[in-house]
This record gives sequence, structure tokens and C-alpha cells, in this order.
Amino acid sequence: MSVKNPLPIAVLISGNGSNLQAIIDAIASGLPAKIVVVISNSENAYGLERAKQAGLPTEILSHHSSQTRDAFDTMLAEHLNSYQPELIILAGFMRILGPSFLDKFPNRILNIHPSLLPKHRGLNTHKAALDAKDTNHGVTVHLVTAELDAGPIIAQAMIPIAPGDTPDSLKEKVHTLEHRLYPIVIGLYASGRLRCENNHPLLDGLKLPENGMRFAHLHNMDCKE
Ligand code: GRF
Repeated sequence: MSVKNPLPIAVLISGNGSNLQAIIDAIASGLPAKIVVVISNSENAYGLERAKQAGLPTEILSHHSSQTRDAFDTMLAEHLNSYQPELIILAGFMRILGPSFLDKFPNRILNIHPSLLPKHRGLNTHKAALDAKDTNHGVTVHLVTAELDAGPIIAQAMIPIAPGDTPDSLKEKVHTLEHRLYPIVIGLYASGRLRCENNHPLLDGLKLPENGMRFAHLHNMDCKE
């Protein structure tokens, strides 16, 4: 299957947008993708500022203006379609997307989650990893399906949990990993090596294992933040 070059992507945010920034920076450094729109469901998202500074089109679609979840999803799908993205990147988008939305963009919505899924779905993942006395923690990029944080895993990067780590220290370390992993995954997609079919991620045509591609040393790599 051929992909457009540069790969048109839409980024959905709700907050700070540091992952958006990492993608913007990676594109500036040669990642063959183009952000066709940044959509936020919150007008206060700092990520909107980042997008504007990068000269990207932005939209604010507040869920408060929609009567029902379905109405919001329909509005979001219509707006997205008008930009023709090949990939939809959820980057801290704090909104569950319903099945009718997901059906409109099969195999094309990715999310990043701050834990080694299937461990610690939902919020407060850093505290959860400490409470569980995990020895490793990390980040997962996965395909979005109807069940929250449960879609097929595309890639994971991990860090060892050190004595003295706190939820805040883990959050910082995991963010660094996120900023490295998401552009790698988008780059694989843009190169045509990674694709998803029937909700299965395939790399070079081969089905990925259940934990996806694993990056054990991404935190040690000396790459630009
Ligand atoms: C990240 O930790 C991501 O894993 C989660 O939401 C957070 C978004 O952070 N889904 P940012 O807005 O990209 O800084």
C-alpha cells in the first residue's frame, strides 16, 4: 500500500501538547509527515499555542457545545474529513471516542498512553506502577479501538523504576520516552513500513507480537529532546 509523502496527519489534543511539540520538532528535522490540523476539545489547551507558533491550522471543538457524545463525535469526524488526514494522532486527547467515530477511521487512529499496557489503563499510571511495585514502567503507542487503552499495541518503550522514583519523576521520564517513541512510530507509518489491517499492526507486512515493537533503551539514547 502506498502512502502519501509527506504523510498527512491530524493531531488531537486537550492540554499541554508536549507530544504535539515533539512531532512538530521531528517534522522540522525531516520526519516525512505534515500536520494538516490540530484539533482541541478545550480552548485552554496550551498545545493550541504551540500549533499556532508552528503556523499550523487549529480548531477548537468543544464537547460542551454538543448535546450528546454522538453529536460531538459526528462533528469531529466531519471536521477531520475536511482535512483528509491519513493518520489521526491522539496526543493527550482526554475524550473517549465512540464506535461510530472509530468505524469512520478504521486502522487509522493512534494513541499514546503512559504505561506498559495492558498494565495500568486509565489515569494516574505512574502512581499505579509504583503501587504495584513494578520494576519497569514506560509508554505504549496503540491503535485505538472501542475499549479504552486496550487497542492492539504497536510499540512500547520502557525505563527501569529506580529507588526513590516518585509519580512526578516517573512522569518526567515517561514524557521523554513519549517524545521519542511517537515520532518513531509516525516515521515508520510515513515510510510505508508500518500499517494496520483489520486492527492488526503489521511491520514490513508481518504481524507484530502482542506487545508490539519494544524499545528497551530509548531513554539512554542521546537524541534531541
Ligand atoms: C501524555 O502523558 C500521554 O501519554 C497521555 O496524555 C499525556 C499528554 O501530554 N495520553 P502532552 O499534552 O502531550 O504534554
